[in-house]
Amino acid sequence: MQNLIDGRAIASQIHTETSQRVAALLQRGCRPGLVFVRVGEDPASQVYVGMKERKSRELGIHSETIVLPAATTQTELLTLIHRLNADPTWHGILVQAPLPPQIDSATIFAAVDPRKDVDGFHPLNVGRLLLGDSGGFVPCTPAGVHELLIRSGVPIPGANVVILGRGNIVGKPMAAILVQKGRTANATVTVCHSASRDIVDHCRRADILIAAMGVPRFVTTAFVKPGAVVIDVGVNRIPDPTAPGGTRLVGDVAFDEVQPIAGKITPNPGGVGPMTIAMLLANTARAAELATP
Ligand code: GUN
Repeated sequence: MQNLIDGRAIASQIHTETSQRVAALLQRGCRPGLVFVRVGEDPASQVYVGMKERKSRELGIHSETIVLPAATTQTELLTLIHRLNADPTWHGILVQAPLPPQIDSATIFAAVDPRKDVDGFHPLNVGRLLLGDSGGFVPCTPAGVHELLIRSGVPIPGANVVILGRGNIVGKPMAAILVQKGRTANATVTVCHSASRDIVDHCRRADILIAAMGVPRFVTTAFVKPGAVVIDVGVNRIPDPTAPGGTRLVGDVAFDEVQPIAGKITPNPGGVGPMTIAMLLANTARAAELATP
């Protein structure tokens, strides 16, 4: 279909660029390393971390996953992070969210050395992004959406962008990226959330609509101005008695009805998901480059 934004193809271009950077680092005697930390047995996190680790290895990045029991205390996890911060093997550290309830995620993200914070969750990197300082790390999913827009030729300067969702991982950093002064940003950004009034009216004014609130198939044709670019960040598991296992994954966009009226649209799967991994590995290459004299 002509209006699809092919996240797999764009991610693959970025992987090629990253593997060239990894090769250059190896020639300089640096083997980029990315360590994953997973706490407990959340099934989705197992799948995500498995995919990220496999792709890291394919690109020549040294990777390892440390799995801790669900009952791990915050102090134990902090001790591990301090050890990984001090270990020169690792240029990137990724602590997979969500974490069990006895652990405060914000404390954990703030404990990762900001130079190894390839997730872009450390307050220093969050602050740099907001200030428009390109020296930090940008969270992978919104960075991936930004690259999708750029590499699909979507004009961003002056565009009305509506973001559905204000989470720390996607909505807030997405707004910070697109509102910056710059050739590939300069958008007028509206962030809608659960307390917003007149959501449909906001959305219908969007030239670029980014759905990241985690409500299955929330965005229907009523939300979309014909010709708008629609980006679906949602990953929602819903019951489906006809599917193997009795559930299936759907996005935040009712793709089949929105696709015919959208100017461009991401499929889901195959849109934003592959880009998250691509940006993570690009961030890891960058962390290694910055650590290599
Ligand atoms: N959980 C869902 N998305 C992410 C992500 O981008 N990074 C981490 N660490 N955990 C997540």
